[in-house]
Amino acid sequence: MATKLTYEFKLKVEVARYHHLDVMGEIAKVSAPKWYKRSYLKTAIRHKRTYVALVGKIPGAFLVWNRDFYGYYFIDLLVVHPELRRKGLARLLIRAMEKRCTGRRLYTSTNRSNKVMQQVMKRMGYKRVGYISNVDRGDPEWIYYKKL
Ligand SMILES: CC(C)(COP(=O)(O)OP(=O)(O)OC[C@H]1O[C@@H](n2cnc3c(N)ncnc32)[C@H](O)[C@@H]1OP(=O)(O)O)[C@@H](O)C(=O)NCCC(=O)NCCS
Repeated sequence: MATKLTYEFKLKVEVARYHHLDVMGEIAKVSAPKWYKRSYLKTAIRHKRTYVALVGKIPGAFLVWNRDFYGYYFIDLLVVHPELRRKGLARLLIRAMEKRCTGRRLYTSTNRSNKVMQQVMKRMGYKRVGYISNVDRGDPEWIYYKKL
């Protein structure tokens, strides 16, 4: 799926492949340090559970999903390179994920402190359906859900 934004570059979402791994690692490192684990990304790529948003040919953002949330689809990690934010990359990746889901439920979560991701959720029509305490100290994980 491809889309043309109002700027000069073309965006495209693809299932990530191994040759994207290094750039994904760099994006994760500058954006989500506590999450960055090369082995985690490698496994997700191996199982085809990762989408990349390509800016031209270069990954600018990625999304990792699983089905570990009571068997339902769950967006586990969504990261956009800091210099490419607010250009719709997260929206594009979430939409690709929504299309890929075979079930009618898609879940994700974010910390209470992550106001930006909460805005993304609101914009994409996700409902906050609960929270989990004691994952990050003093910063509960808010659970979001969308009926597809
Ligand atoms: C959260 C994150 C993924 C958003 O990515 P993004 O590509 O910048 O988001 P988008 O451009 O697709 O924004 C979608 C909508 O969310 C809202 N939004 C996004 N960033 C916002 C901001 N800084 N302030 C207010 N609203 C914001 C807007 O409604 C936006 O739509 P609009 O631009 O048409 O108004 C990105 O900031 C990021 O990588 N953060 C660090 C990692 C992280 O926290 N990941 C989420 C938890 S795993």
